[in-house]
Amino acid sequence: MNRDAKENTNEKNIDNKDVIGIRKMLLKDLPQVCEIERQTFSVPWSESAFEESLKLPHAIFLVAYLGEQILGYCGLYQVFNEGDITNIAVSPDYRGMGIAGKLLETVFAYSAERGIEAFTLEVRESNAPAIHLYSKYGFEQAGLRKNFYEKPKEHAVIMWKRGL
Ligand code: COA
Repeated sequence: MNRDAKENTNEKNIDNKDVIGIRKMLLKDLPQVCEIERQTFSVPWSESAFEESLKLPHAIFLVAYLGEQILGYCGLYQVFNEGDITNIAVSPDYRGMGIAGKLLETVFAYSAERGIEAFTLEVRESNAPAIHLYSKYGFEQAGLRKNFYEKPKEHAVIMWKRGL
C-alpha cells in the first residue's frame, strides 16, 4: 500500500462485537470510506479511485459496518491465482477490536472461492500494528522496496502469505 498511516489511539466500546458485519463495498459507502482514508493516510486514495476499483471484476473490496456506519474496509486485486491487498484501514475510534482481522478472514474466504492461493502486500517498515496484524494472519516478510513511500519517505516491507 503506497500510503502513510497516521497514528490514533482512540477507542470506543461496542458491547457485542458480533453485531459488526462484513459485506462487499457499495458506491453508497464511499463518502464514509474516504473519510477514514483521509483520516488515516498521508496520500489517500480518491473517491474515484475506489469507484473504479468497485467496477473491476478482479477486485474484492469489503467493508466492516455497524448499522449504517462504516467502521473499516479492505481491498484486493486478483492477478491469476494471487491476491494483492491494496487497502486495509479501520476507523481510528474502532481499532484494536478485531475488525481488521474479521476483514482479512472474509477477504480470504472470498479469495478461496476465486482460486486465489497466495497474497502479497507492502507495508511501511515502521507500521508495527499492521505488520503484527499481517504476521498473525500468516504473512511473512519477503523483502524490502527501498524508498517506496513518500510523505515521509520510507522503505516498504513486502509480505507474502502462501496458502489459506
Ligand atoms: N499495536 C500493536 N498491535 C496491534 C495494534 C497496535 N496499535 N493494533 C492492532 N494490533 C494487533 C492486535 O493486537 C491484534 O493482534 P493480537 O490478537 O495478537 O492482539 C492484531 O493486530 C489484529 O488487531 P485488529 O483489532 O483486528 O486490528 P484493527 O482492527 O485495529 O486494525 C489496522 C489494524 C492496522 C488496520 C489499523 O490499526 C489501521 O487502520 N491502521 C491504519 C491503517 C494502516 O496502517 N493500514 C495498513 C497499511 S499497510
